[in-house]
Amino acid sequence: MKSVASVYPRSSGVYRITATPKEPINTGTTTDQGLKIVGNLIAQTSLTNSDLSVFPMNPNPSNPPLVLITHTLPDDWIASLQGKVRAVTGPLDATGLAPELEVHLAEAEGLFCLLTIPVRAELLQRMPRLRAVSNMAAGVDNIDVAACTERGIPVGNTPDVLTDATADLTMAILLSAARRLPESAQDARAGQWRTWSPTGWLGADLRGATLGIVGMGKIGRAVAERAHGFGLRIAYTDTSPRPDVEAALGAKFLSFAELIRQCDFVSLHCPLTPATRGLINESALRKMKPTAILVNAARGPIVDTAALARALAEGWIAAAALDVTDPEPLPPDHPLYLLPNCLIVPHIGSATHGTRRRMAEMACENLLAGLEGRRLPYCVNPEVYK
Ligand code: DGY
Repeated sequence: MKSVASVYPRSSGVYRITATPKEPINTGTTTDQGLKIVGNLIAQTSLTNSDLSVFPMNPNPSNPPLVLITHTLPDDWIASLQGKVRAVTGPLDATGLAPELEVHLAEAEGLFCLLTIPVRAELLQRMPRLRAVSNMAAGVDNIDVAACTERGIPVGNTPDVLTDATADLTMAILLSAARRLPESAQDARAGQWRTWSPTGWLGADLRGATLGIVGMGKIGRAVAERAHGFGLRIAYTDTSPRPDVEAALGAKFLSFAELIRQCDFVSLHCPLTPATRGLINESALRKMKPTAILVNAARGPIVDTAALARALAEGWIAAAALDVTDPEPLPPDHPLYLLPNCLIVPHIGSATHGTRRRMAEMACENLLAGLEGRRLPYCVNPEVYK
């Protein structure tokens, strides 16, 4: 272990120590109890003290609330929290609630989490002082919102800001699957590109084909707008028709059953709810066209993974393009990875510099509002204010 004595602040308080040789790679929190490093910051043996930065989280201590930030984020994304909260931060790559956060559950008044952290009743019960939950995501299916509401705890999310990035990614994977980019790129790399082949790597035509959108919310509409530009016809299904989208894009409202039967591409943009879990199951996949391409940039469990693997292996449908899977991540030896007609990317729909930063900033705005007793600017359970 390296010493952080030269950078360790001598005054009492709570500080974040960040290693920034390139990007923040690990963060710990020190307390005035001594050189207690939470996380494995100093285990990075290549670090020197000049790589380390110290950020006071509470320069004017007047007992600000303790918040748990489940993952390490770039300091400038969460700068608005500085001085207003005492933050304990989990590691960058936490796959669950880190042990160093567990020990603070009873005291924590705020929770800043990512979609990979389940915030269920059992966790909430261990957080008696919790006053605000802020999810750095648009979707909140990882959170038991009803349990929060019951306790009067507002839950914040980050809607709208990721609409364009997610719609762009949806089109990217749709096009990749349609034009067989992963297979053809792999073949080229493997020496299979012997000549310009008139029948090699033939893909699907877009112009005149029909894209069926399941869930015509903001992201669904943004995908429809982009697809319209490629000459795709738009069909959609939702809980009710959207005359505005029909007028703007000539989109046709269909029942779910009609949509999966008729469409050449089916793209999922609905939230994960009890009603949509397993929506694309064996029965649905068997009703799709054998030439159809399924795109999922919403939530993995909307698709029955085992049924999809069979559908792709046995040719019930032509291909799938997945930004999300169930489970997430998929184990590296999962059969879906062996299928050349399945493109999988690691839940990167919102992964652009500007989008992710803004998501973090919005999550901070929500968290601070909740802790200061103000209405959350982006609140998924506004009934807590009634
Ligand atoms: C969300 O915010 O719900 C997205 O899935 C993150 O990319």
